[in-house]
Amino acid sequence: MGYFITFEGVEGCGKTTQIKLLSDFLSARGIDTLLTREPGGCPIADKIRAILLDAENQALSPLAELMLYAAARAQHVTEVISPALEAGNIVLCDRFCDATLAYQSFGRGIDRSIIDSLNLHACQGVSPDLTILVDCDPAIGLERARRRIEASSGPREERFELEALAFHHRVRDGYRQLATDQPDRFLIIDGSDSIETIFAAISRRVLARIPEALRAVC
Ligand code: TMP
Repeated sequence: MGYFITFEGVEGCGKTTQIKLLSDFLSARGIDTLLTREPGGCPIADKIRAILLDAENQALSPLAELMLYAAARAQHVTEVISPALEAGNIVLCDRFCDATLAYQSFGRGIDRSIIDSLNLHACQGVSPDLTILVDCDPAIGLERARRRIEASSGPREERFELEALAFHHRVRDGYRQLATDQPDRFLIIDGSDSIETIFAAISRRVLARIPEALRAVC
């Protein structure tokens, strides 16, 4: 089996920059990684992502939203994550099941037992070995995310950026609660530091955690 690392955090926390830096860092040391993301990561799940993040879909009900995340995850795990882990790869995923707890349960208020049950089926036995929570003040993160959306020429994936600040505070508090509940799996990194300082902390701690067999070439 490979090793599964997920990155989580509120909008604009910097996790996408950090996961790419980590992928390059490990590749440069001869450690193959598969870099993927949720929602998305394969063609069918990417189509579901487009529905989920389209700012025009304001009428999407919380339950329909939850089930679309679960559907995208089921496809992504089947098609991409499980085969890569079975082949012994290190898989780096930008968001995974914790995002559904943080956003749909802590953020939207959907009963946690419904989400746990859907995650159980969608994940099909796959669970992160390590989760890096890039913790960040939602006001600062949202400002960064809005600047990124304005500068992008692609589709405006901003349905969540349009949510009230209070929603994003619930998401952040939810993530911190999840990390407190599972200290062995989560690493909390302060997202207010510089990109270089954050990456130094992540790379050092990730290298220490990757199993010996997978980092033999380091
Ligand atoms: P991204 O901006 O990090 O690509 O994530 C897409 C958005 O989807 C982000 O606003 C968080 C949200 N999301 C959920 O609400 N639930 C989930 O299960 C996942 C994976 C993401």
